[in-house]
Amino acid sequence: MSRFGRSLTMQLGALFACVAVMVFSAVGFYLYQALATQLQERDDTDLVGRVLQIRHLLEETSSLESIRNEPHRFLDAVDSRRGLLIVMQTQDGRLLMQNTEERSFVPNGSQLPADVEPSPADTKPVKLANGIRLRVIAAQGMVGSTGKIVSIAIARTADDRAALLSAYRKKVMTAVFAGAALTALLGFLLVRQGLQKVRALAAQAQQVTAHNLEMRLNVDSAPQELRVLADSFNEVLDRLQSSFNNLSQFADDLAHDLRTPLNNLMVQTEVAFSQPRESEEYQNLLSSNYEEFGRLARMVESMLFLARADHDQIALTTERLDAATELARIAEYFEGPASEAGISFDIVATGAVLADAHLLRRAVSNLVANAVRYTPRGGVIAMVANQMADGVMISVSNPGPGIEAEHLPRLFDRFYRSDRSRSSQSSSAGLGLAIVKSIMSLHGGRANVASERGGLTQFSLLFPGPGGGLH
Ligand SMILES: Nc1ncnc2c1ncn2[C@@H]1O[C@H](COP(=O)(O)OP(=O)(O)O)[C@@H](O)[C@H]1O
Ligand SMILES: [Mg+2]
Repeated sequence: MSRFGRSLTMQLGALFACVAVMVFSAVGFYLYQALATQLQERDDTDLVGRVLQIRHLLEETSSLESIRNEPHRFLDAVDSRRGLLIVMQTQDGRLLMQNTEERSFVPNGSQLPADVEPSPADTKPVKLANGIRLRVIAAQGMVGSTGKIVSIAIARTADDRAALLSAYRKKVMTAVFAGAALTALLGFLLVRQGLQKVRALAAQAQQVTAHNLEMRLNVDSAPQELRVLADSFNEVLDRLQSSFNNLSQFADDLAHDLRTPLNNLMVQTEVAFSQPRESEEYQNLLSSNYEEFGRLARMVESMLFLARADHDQIALTTERLDAATELARIAEYFEGPASEAGISFDIVATGAVLADAHLLRRAVSNLVANAVRYTPRGGVIAMVANQMADGVMISVSNPGPGIEAEHLPRLFDRFYRSDRSRSSQSSSAGLGLAIVKSIMSLHGGRANVASERGGLTQFSLLFPGPGGGLH
């Protein structure tokens, strides 16, 4: 698109000019027409006046002869220099007097009778053979006391009127174009002035970078029409800032959490290299390293899972799963470590869950893994599935230390651990609950936690859907 097409100022300026040309032209046209009509009315009234004057002179005249003998008396009443023509004739067409050779404007026939008062409406337009336009009035007059009737025809050329109008037209046209140009210019300046506020906002917006995401546009200084825009922009900044903060926190945590296992690997390997060792020692080292690698691999896998879930790249294969079967299966999987820690499971489950089997197992397993870690010896982990109004609720509760209320809101965040000292051991990266939350949002469900200090800690997952018995 051209520069002109893009510039609002230019477009509005041009629009102003168009509107001005139209309005001024209309006004100019109206004024021109008004003047033309008024000039013609003035001329017509003038012609009527001349007729009355001639009639008056005729009344004071004694005979037709004296008209012929003293034409100047009548000629004085008209002035040929001002474009007035007069012809006077007897009833039977004999010429009495004239101030022109032109006779074609004299109407044969319709004339105003001597006893009828002439009015401007009695004037008629006539166009001569040579193209000249005239206004003509034809009336009869009575000669003194003789009772003789005389035809009077008086005409006026439109020359001076036309000249006046043409001069006026030129002036109006000049005024129209000058006015339009001026309006366009003023419009341009006004629009530019008006858009100044937009530029000011844009200048503010330009100062926002990744390093000062806390900056906001000054909404109060923006005009009302731009406030919506500024507000929306600020909301976008709010969201960007919070995402950006999460992201950089995430990067920090990630670097921090990768460093520990990598350092362990490096140190152990260095120590092993420091002197020759028995093959058994190498075997121990490798198996310890293998554990660290495993931890790193699980962490990377979890990160990848979270990233893909964030970008909706995980396709769900939703099916109806029998809740009791699923919970029993997960409990069985944890049977080994649980019985080693003197912990048992209590499963109470009914109904069917609508979920992706693999993801449901992963989410519940993450909860059970935590529960197993925090349940004291002799404790019982309760796994419950219940049909609710809006879906199926699966919960995992365990006795234990409980979680401080201050940690609860952030518990599902990535890398968040309420008890750093305890979870600095190998298997804890703080990603388990984040994955649970991701899985629940993939299902359109939600995850909650409730905990009493030193009492029960209960995590519950709501899988939406009709649930009910298996078909
Ligand atoms: N059943 C539980 N009892 C007490 N604390 C828990 C329980 N489950 C989770 N937590 C707390 O929540 C934190 C986050 O859990 P999670 O995301 O699974 O990370 P990780 O298990 O890797 O530490 C844990 O570090 C722990 O502090
Ligand atoms: Mg965990």
